[in-house]
Amino acid sequence: MGQLFINIKELLQVRNASEQLVSGQDMKDLPLLTNAYLWIENGHIKDFGPMNQLPEIAIPTIDCKGKIILPPWCDSHTHLVYTNTREQEFVDRINGLTYEEIAQRGGGILNSAKQIASISEDELYAISLERLEKTIQLGTGAIEIKSGYGLSMEGELKMLRVIKRLQESTTIPIKATFLAAHAIPIAYQNNPDAYIDLIINDMLPVIAKENLADFIDVFCEKGYFSPEQMDRILKAGKKYGLQSKVHVNQFHSIGGIEVAVANESLSVDHLEVLSEQEIDIIKNSSTIPVALPLCSLFLSIPYTPGRKIIDAGLPLAIASDYNPGSAPSSNLNLALSLACIKMKLTPEEAINALTINGAFAMDLATTVGSITKGKKANFMITEPLDSYHQLAYYFGETLIESVYINGKKQ
Ligand code: NIG
Ligand code: FE
Repeated sequence: MGQLFINIKELLQVRNASEQLVSGQDMKDLPLLTNAYLWIENGHIKDFGPMNQLPEIAIPTIDCKGKIILPPWCDSHTHLVYTNTREQEFVDRINGLTYEEIAQRGGGILNSAKQIASISEDELYAISLERLEKTIQLGTGAIEIKSGYGLSMEGELKMLRVIKRLQESTTIPIKATFLAAHAIPIAYQNNPDAYIDLIINDMLPVIAKENLADFIDVFCEKGYFSPEQMDRILKAGKKYGLQSKVHVNQFHSIGGIEVAVANESLSVDHLEVLSEQEIDIIKNSSTIPVALPLCSLFLSIPYTPGRKIIDAGLPLAIASDYNPGSAPSSNLNLALSLACIKMKLTPEEAINALTINGAFAMDLATTVGSITKGKKANFMITEPLDSYHQLAYYFGETLIESVYINGKKQ
């Protein structure tokens, strides 16, 4: 049965099905209807329009007077499946250590990887599900989740199976990314290439056979994986049909962008350190840049130059990077404010980056990311607000009253 939402103060991000990515100048435009209705049926958007064209139909109706409706946030980069939190590292950083120094002492990703071995799949699933449910309540309606704290055949499979169970048990679309190349495990530190052989020759065939991943990822960074090593892994992934989404230029520019673009990566994520020349390389590609402002806030590192990226005519997506080390928050409402305050995006640009472009960055733009006839009835209703600008303005507040997925209130 259908449902009508009427008297919507602002219905945001209304687009045709052909619009799946917004770039450059076009990001300034956030198409909207004021005083609108939204009609949903069978879990999909059937129609919408101005209130003076409201169809005369007798179906359950919800009055949204004073409220704004927009698509939920599309989070294209998370590490939501993890065991322990790492607040000791947070305190260590306050006391002067850097993220890299902590990693060199066996903290960081290796710290999280230690714990994955000792937790059962059921327990890992239960804590991850709880996190995902909280994340949905914050307004996230589609999400990508990475492995990468296993760093062994068993550990990586455990994480990917947990992601698969989340896909089966929750309503929001979830994409799975295989990130065994997240750090070199201790046992391989003297021979990292042997670990890459393990990823390519042993892990990838099993993951492909069990259909456990949609994408492949590599952390290309000094002390982690070189561009050459990433190139090997991305090419191997491609043979198994896995497109790539990669971590590049978080702390250093070491040539990862060139390799990602040459391998037609769907997205290059992080980019806190980014030269004009690298912006040009991305510009001549089909790869979308993804900024992670919650990570910049938490680690006190530079923000991705989102303003420059958009001014160069490129698209930009924004994601949370939700993980226990560099961004222990999945709150994209805060990311919206940070994009405006720290990256100098307008609210329109930031909302485009968090909805339609986020969906594109995980290959979901045909089904979510905008209010479009035929797309899933995924949307959120805000508290009464004066305008959508207040979503970004009231930083640190979550003004979402309810989240609907497939037409059902969550
Ligand atoms: O995207 N940079 C690499 N990976 C994560 C951090 C993971 C961790 O610290 O556990 C990131 O920031
Ligand atoms: Fe990440």
